Amino acid sequence: QSKGEQILYSIHEKVSEFYHYYLNNTVNGEAALQYLLKRNLTQQTIDDFAIGFAPDNSQILWQFLKKEHFTDDELINSGIFYLSENSQQLIDRFHGRLMFPLRNMQGKVVGFSGRLMSEDTSKRSPKYLNSPETIIFQKNQLLFNLDRARLPIRQSNQVLICEGFMDVIALTQANFENTVATMGTSLTESHLKQVTKLAKEVVFVFDGDDAGQKAIARAFELSVAFPNNTFKSLIIPQKMDPDEWIQQHGSESFQKLIVQALSPFEFQMNYLKKSYDLSNQQELAWYIEALIKLIANIQSPIEQQLRLNNLIQEFNLSESLVKEQLAQANYINK
Ligand code: UTP
Ligand code: MN
Ligand code: MN
Ligand code: MN
Ligand code: MN
Repeated sequence: QSKGEQILYSIHEKVSEFYHYYLNNTVNGEAALQYLLKRNLTQQTIDDFAIGFAPDNSQILWQFLKKEHFTDDELINSGIFYLSENSQQLIDRFHGRLMFPLRNMQGKVVGFSGRLMSEDTSKRSPKYLNSPETIIFQKNQLLFNLDRARLPIRQSNQVLICEGFMDVIALTQANFENTVATMGTSLTESHLKQVTKLAKEVVFVFDGDDAGQKAIARAFELSVAFPNNTFKSLIIPQKMDPDEWIQQHGSESFQKLIVQALSPFEFQMNYLKKSYDLSNQQELAWYIEALIKLIANIQSPIEQQLRLNNLIQEFNLSESLVKEQLAQANYINK
């Protein structure tokens, strides 16, 4: 660990403690604390994740860090502060935001994500603002909560991967502790490498909107590089995200969704089903043809046979015809 890294870790730890103290113990932090409690987070959860609040006035944090003997250059290097050209003062880029510390595998704070409390979309600033990348923070490699989830992931032999921090926090509070999230970027092979070592089963728990559906398809494409793991995806009804679902329907209902999670084949079949009008004979034929192509792609010969049998039964097809179509699809795949 270089001297520069040590200073960055130390700044982040101090700032994280400051934000958290400021949320819990000051008048200025009260609205932010109320916001979190209104979203059903318990005080215990707020403390466990060290959620905080960045004062609107940057000088308060700056003065605190000066007492800790950090230089302005070090504070700018941390990515937390920038130099205002107007006032020549250091400004906390997160001021006025609800703060989530981001920790690496070792549990060290390496960056932050700050959420606006208003849902005012007319503002130019994004709902969540992340720290810029530094020598200690690489956005497309970090999985939020992996430090705390590692043991639960090993013990359950399963990992739940979400899109958002609030999803991880809500699921953890509901005792689904084997949960992590990407940092608002799409899933990478590096993310999968980290979790496939810890558990056999990987469940994608993305938002139920169209973007989430696309993300699942992409995640399944990445998953073929990990033949020793099983992958599933959970479709949350009514375009909700995991947090919203838990708030409205509770954790038992979420457990049911996990049990019903779809395999890559089932997910693609669902997608195909929605793409064709099955009451129309011609479209039904296209659907079945597409399904046979999907079955031709299945790696396990046994699973392939089972899916084929289902298809033959469901639509009362001739076995020889279906096998002939499969052979054709296989030939084209090669
Ligand atoms: P969402 O918009 O689904 O947020 O983005 P969320 O997690 O449900 O948050 P709440 O419930 O509105 O508070 C999912 C993730 O995408 C990233 C964040 O990592 C977020 O958790 N994101 C989103 C950004 O980085 N910037 C944004 O402006 C929005
Ligand atoms: Mn401002
Ligand atoms: Mn989303
Ligand atoms: Mn969401
Ligand atoms: Mn949400």
